[in-house]
Amino acid sequence: MNAPLKRPKLALAPASPQFINCHQASAQGPAPDVAHELAEGLNAVAASVAPKYFYDALGSQLFETITQLDEYYPTRTEAGIFDTAYRSIAETVAGAGIKQPCLIDLGAGNCAKAAKLIPYLKPKQYVPVDISADFLRDAAEQVQTTFPALDIVGIGMDFSAELALPPQVQRRDRVFFYPGSSLGNFSPDQALTFLQQMVDPAQGAARGLLLGIDLVKDKTTLEAAYDDALGVTAAFNKNLLRHVNTLLGSDFDVRQWRHLALFNETESRIEMYLQAQRNLMVHWPGGERAFRGGERIHTENSCKYTVASMTALLRRAGFTQISYWTDPKDWFAVFWASV
Ligand code: AVI
Repeated sequence: MNAPLKRPKLALAPASPQFINCHQASAQGPAPDVAHELAEGLNAVAASVAPKYFYDALGSQLFETITQLDEYYPTRTEAGIFDTAYRSIAETVAGAGIKQPCLIDLGAGNCAKAAKLIPYLKPKQYVPVDISADFLRDAAEQVQTTFPALDIVGIGMDFSAELALPPQVQRRDRVFFYPGSSLGNFSPDQALTFLQQMVDPAQGAARGLLLGIDLVKDKTTLEAAYDDALGVTAAFNKNLLRHVNTLLGSDFDVRQWRHLALFNETESRIEMYLQAQRNLMVHWPGGERAFRGGERIHTENSCKYTVASMTALLRRAGFTQISYWTDPKDWFAVFWASV
């Protein structure tokens, strides 16, 4: 007798994440607003370049390396808080009436932080958003391999100006995930405007924010975190000039610039600069700028908060329920805020 015929099992390939690229750049060059913004910042009396321009592919890799440095405590301190609080966080989110979360991961990078949160939060949809679209696309595919059934919508977008999410993003139960103290890279006024957008009813019903924020501490620890012995943060800062050269067609010579990181106690923020080592001329199509030796380009602020100052900011933005978790040294805090 013939053995009953066994049907082969179908190997199901994981669904691919959807990917939406909201950038306007084309093969002809940068979007005009990018060139305009860069030129305007370079021509200002106190020259500046916005920190979002750190994150080309190399900049994103350098930032990942920063997070592994001995001196850069925020990433590992935040991870320690999450490791002890995942269950408590999941209970708190459910307690806010959020049943089928849409986890919106702002500045997702390699998506590693969200990948650890997903098994606890069990989101219905995962939406990683990052300005570095190519880097994000690969990372979103990795997440899809780990969670084949999860609905993933990756978005390449600069959300620093406006948090306008495309219609593919679930409107109900939105949970914004903004870890890593990235909110600190906005000024407090900009941070307020940014947070207000999350509270806006346009973001749908029942929404909350899971926010990681670096706390004020001694100047020595803070300055070492932004000026490490290996010089990785210096490379990260100088790489911004390479990225500007690509975007604007400028001729910055990276070797002529020095990395500076200073804690401004009055403003409660680390300030990063690139300082010209001698008198320099920089040119780009349609513009140029002379820099005196010692003159600086401001590249980043990283604001440091207290639990009280961040709670006050979240309340001003319109969040009503606020709780937080910290590490034993009170160096970093993870906030949950809901409307
Ligand atoms: C992404 N952001 C929160 C980092 C920070 O600490 O402000 C960027 C950074 N700049 C220098 N080192 C890290």
